[in-house]
Amino acid sequence: MGKEYNVAIVGATGAVGEAMRLILEERGFPVARLRLMASPRSRGRRLAFRGEEVEVEVLEESTFEGVDLALFSAGASVSLRFAPEAVRAGALVVDNSSAFRLEPDVPLVVPEVNPGEVAGNRGIIANPNCSTIQMVVALKPLHDRWGLRRVIVSTYQSVSGTGRRALVELENQLRSWLEGTEGPVEVYPHPIAFNCLPHIDVFQEEGYTREEWKMVRETRKIMGLPDLPVTATTVRVPVRVGHSESVYAEFENPVNAEEARQILREAPGVVVEDDPQRNLYPLALNAEGKDPCFVGRIRADLFHPNALNFWVVADNLRKGAALNAVQIAELWAGLPS
Ligand SMILES: NC(=O)c1ccc[n+]([C@@H]2O[C@H](COP(=O)([O-])OP(=O)(O)OC[C@H]3O[C@@H](n4cnc5c(N)ncnc54)[C@H](OP(=O)(O)O)[C@@H]3O)[C@@H](O)[C@H]2O)c1
Repeated sequence: MGKEYNVAIVGATGAVGEAMRLILEERGFPVARLRLMASPRSRGRRLAFRGEEVEVEVLEESTFEGVDLALFSAGASVSLRFAPEAVRAGALVVDNSSAFRLEPDVPLVVPEVNPGEVAGNRGIIANPNCSTIQMVVALKPLHDRWGLRRVIVSTYQSVSGTGRRALVELENQLRSWLEGTEGPVEVYPHPIAFNCLPHIDVFQEEGYTREEWKMVRETRKIMGLPDLPVTATTVRVPVRVGHSESVYAEFENPVNAEEARQILREAPGVVVEDDPQRNLYPLALNAEGKDPCFVGRIRADLFHPNALNFWVVADNLRKGAALNAVQIAELWAGLPS
């Protein structure tokens, strides 16, 4: 029998933590013992894993002694405080927050794009931002063929990207609307039901939000293209699960849409859904609960011979977060994925 690992999920009761637990089980990750950690709010909760119930531990009262792999998904402040403790106790940390992503000695990994970076870790491997992951999975094989020169992306991001509270807020606002009343507006600065908010995370320099800066900086780091021009507009839409993105990608060389379709059909982690005559293109509702990045509406730009436009959709809780983290763990453990 191969090696088995003691695994901890930090933030186990959250939207991403739940997906991590499901995906570890689904993919048969060799878990010797699973530990689930969350805040005091979750004290005593029990969650299922492989047919048994595991009690949630309060992070502050636990230690990482004996943990081989710690999957962190409880926000940046929790990671900053507890990930170094987990590393000191001998665990590999795969961190889903933004805490370490841009640290020069922390690999930022999407297994379909830069798997080799895993080997250079010093105890922490960062999982990129959800909207960046699905875009680079589609861009990498096109970059290998034509040489990427510029990216312009607009996102249509689901509320589950904000976590459980936002899912509840969308549902409450929809219910209130049906009853003719106004629902609570707490998570976002405006109602999200029947709305689009061109505002994800806080506004930062040059009028771009932190989510938009993440797409710039993380894309450059993962693709190994430190000067790549990336322009992002990130928008929250009233979708439960699944981020959609409209991408304009410009290359060093002239491109061809049919060849791009063929390249993407053969690319790891990608499923092409592109038959406009049959109304076939990627949809958030169809991507929910699935692993691949779905790409469609692949077409040459009308005005630039070196540019393509496409639409990419993925489940933000899976490929955008939990699945990518488990794939990183599989690479680290030398498991086939
Ligand atoms: N949602 C996405 O699509 C997505 C994608 C990529 C990255 N991320 C990142 O993943 C992280 C979690 O996101 P989420 O969507 O799962 O959020 P969420 O649904 O709000 O869940 C947050 C989790 O963190 C735990 N937590 C919060 N404060 C804690 C503390 N002080 N000590 C211990 N545990 C604490 C919560 O425990 P309680 O239940 O006990 O409060 C819960 O388990 C964030 O860093 C987020 O940026 C999310």
